Amino acid sequence: MTYVVDEKCIKCKHMDCVEVCPVDCFYEGENMLVIHPDECIDCGVCEPECPAEAIFQDSALSEGEKEKWELLNYKYSNEWPNISEARPDDVPQDAKEWDGVPNKYNEHFSSKPGRGD
Ligand code: SF4
Ligand code: F3S
Repeated sequence: MTYVVDEKCIKCKHMDCVEVCPVDCFYEGENMLVIHPDECIDCGVCEPECPAEAIFQDSALSEGEKEKWELLNYKYSNEWPNISEARPDDVPQDAKEWDGVPNKYNEHFSSKPGRGD
């Protein structure tokens, strides 16, 4: 099992999650973060830290969603740079406006890497 980040993170990217992860297994894209499934120790401490409620234990997702987000988290955690410290100045200014907006993956996902640490 692992925890995964889903589309609710896109364009919100609060970064509170990276501050609490004991194994620094978050990776940064241009407009969202992902968790490396092989590095996550399933501790769960990041889940309640996310203001956008974008983090889930994979077992809490339906079969289709589980596979989709596991694959995406796995793929991009191998392509994007590690991030272990939040950068409050880089949180999108309109993050609150994007909170809970539907269909963010199809319409707004960016495969470009973020800055990382
Ligand atoms: Fe890190 Fe724990 Fe969250 Fe996994 S569940 S990403 S180890 S804080
Ligand atoms: Fe994204 Fe939530 Fe972390 S919005 S960057 S998963 S705190």
